[in-house]
Amino acid sequence: MLLSIAVDGPAGSGKSTVAKAVADALHITYLDTGAMYRMVTLNIIRESIDLKDIDRIQKLLDNIVIEFRSDGLYLNGENVTEEIRNNVVANAVSGVAAIGIIRTKMVAMQQEIAKGQSIIMDGRDIGTHVLVNASHKFYLVASVEERAKRRMRDFQAQNIHMTLEELIRDIESRDEQDMNRDISPLRQAEDAILVDTTSMTIDEVIEYIIQEVRS
Ligand code: DC
Repeated sequence: MLLSIAVDGPAGSGKSTVAKAVADALHITYLDTGAMYRMVTLNIIRESIDLKDIDRIQKLLDNIVIEFRSDGLYLNGENVTEEIRNNVVANAVSGVAAIGIIRTKMVAMQQEIAKGQSIIMDGRDIGTHVLVNASHKFYLVASVEERAKRRMRDFQAQNIHMTLEELIRDIESRDEQDMNRDISPLRQAEDAILVDTTSMTIDEVIEYIIQEVRS
């Protein structure tokens, strides 16, 4: 039987790290859907497109090539793995992810990728829209302070320095935008298992999900 696992939750809840590790453990495909919205955002920034200019956005979507290659994430043939993580993209992505035609295209691409294979995807609307019939759905949460501390450790490892207060502000602002947008706002699917990771280690979360999937 094919597995389809949805992992949703707010920024910094540990979704990507956990989903990647579960994919490795279960030998299934991992799809980082947030990276797709980040690639569209980078494309829009580079082309200096106004978010209200739906015609230009539609043209960009008609021509966009998003690839997950073994050595990284490619936007229109260029490796943008690192660039999509920078702060300019991070601050703009919630606005981009709120645009209907962009979501429609991304969801269609994600559903196409999911066809015929076992997959785990992380995002905001996987359990509610992308994989509505997923075999397993998880909704990860953690306190804002804990999420900001995790982000700070990630950034420090990349030599990026931001204060905890700045990170808390950024996370709260992204939560606010992701939860209150009109289309597919971030919310827990009714049939998703809620996992509060605030006082769990990443390994504990990974182990918990693997056990749930195997049981
Ligand atoms: O998971 P992330 O931080 O890379 O996600 C980047 C942004 O994309 C985030 O602000 C919410 C949005 N997103 C979304 O709306 N739907 C998804 N399935 C994944 C991400």
